[in-house]
Amino acid sequence: MAAIIRAENLTHIYGQGMPDAATAIENLNFEIEEGEFVGLIGSTGSGKSTLINHFNGILKPTTGKLYVDGQDMWADPKQIRKFRFLVGLVFQYPEYQLFEETVEKDIAYGPTNMGLSPQEIAQRVQQAAQLCEIDSEMLKKSPFELSGGQKRRVAIAGVIAMRPRVLVLDEPAAGLDPEGRDNILSQIKAYHKETKTTVVLVSHSMEDIAKYADKVIVMNQSKIAMYDTTEKIFARAQELLQMGLSVPQVTKIFLKLRELGIDVPTDVYTIPYAVKTILAAKAAKEGGKV
Ligand SMILES: Nc1ncnc2c1ncn2[C@@H]1O[C@H](COP(=O)(O)OP(=O)(O)OP(=O)(O)O)[C@@H](O)[C@H]1O
Ligand SMILES: [Mg+2]
Repeated sequence: MAAIIRAENLTHIYGQGMPDAATAIENLNFEIEEGEFVGLIGSTGSGKSTLINHFNGILKPTTGKLYVDGQDMWADPKQIRKFRFLVGLVFQYPEYQLFEETVEKDIAYGPTNMGLSPQEIAQRVQQAAQLCEIDSEMLKKSPFELSGGQKRRVAIAGVIAMRPRVLVLDEPAAGLDPEGRDNILSQIKAYHKETKTTVVLVSHSMEDIAKYADKVIVMNQSKIAMYDTTEKIFARAQELLQMGLSVPQVTKIFLKLRELGIDVPTDVYTIPYAVKTILAAKAAKEGGKV
């Protein structure tokens, strides 16, 4: 599969040349394959938001290049608009950006900007609303009448309605209760499965990353510290902890078991896999006794 996003020596310095210049991302080289679900983790200030804000041209690289669908994004700055539609970005706390008088109009905002026909816009709004479980009653409401979780779903639907090739979400579950979190994230996962859209999910929650991502990028101090399959990332739990990150609860338990000298695999990060491992060990032990 081809890379939908590719970074080449990507560097961003805020306030370059000023006394308070800060290098937020430094010399990043990586690619994201089309159709993948990639988790992005890293401690506060490691550069996650700075990185993803390059994906649709909100930020311009200080040096280095970013290719989207094989095209150098900044080769012609006049063309940057087109990348805003190719890569859909859902900001952190996107509900603050809802401003239209109805939910329906808010979802239609992006497709309207793309210059699509009214029929096409209506169709996209319908589909995006359905994917985000927004019913026809909610479509007629003012965004301000909705709960936090509902607002968030409306904001995500607005980006989905543009049918981007890549959907990037910055902490989409932040500030929601556990039920709200699960709702949003499983909807994103279902959307990914159904449409095969590439998804980049920024999250502080290792449990969420473990549950939803196929690959994980770990950022540490402006650099990419690790980039691998979720399984291989959590097999390096000790290193993640050293970076000040956490690991899923179940991974912590298995790490402890190893410390106690019990021979269990290092790459356990989901509960179903943990159960399978324990049952297999138990069966082996019982088999040994006979
Ligand atoms: N607009 C800005 N001007 C100056 N410095 C900035 C700006 N935005 C971010 N920074 C700095 O760049 C670095 C990376 O910040 P960034 O917001 O990308 O991190 P992050 O990984 O998204 O953090 P968080 O998990 O808190 O969202 C930090 O040192 C931050 O202080
Ligand atoms: Mg951030």
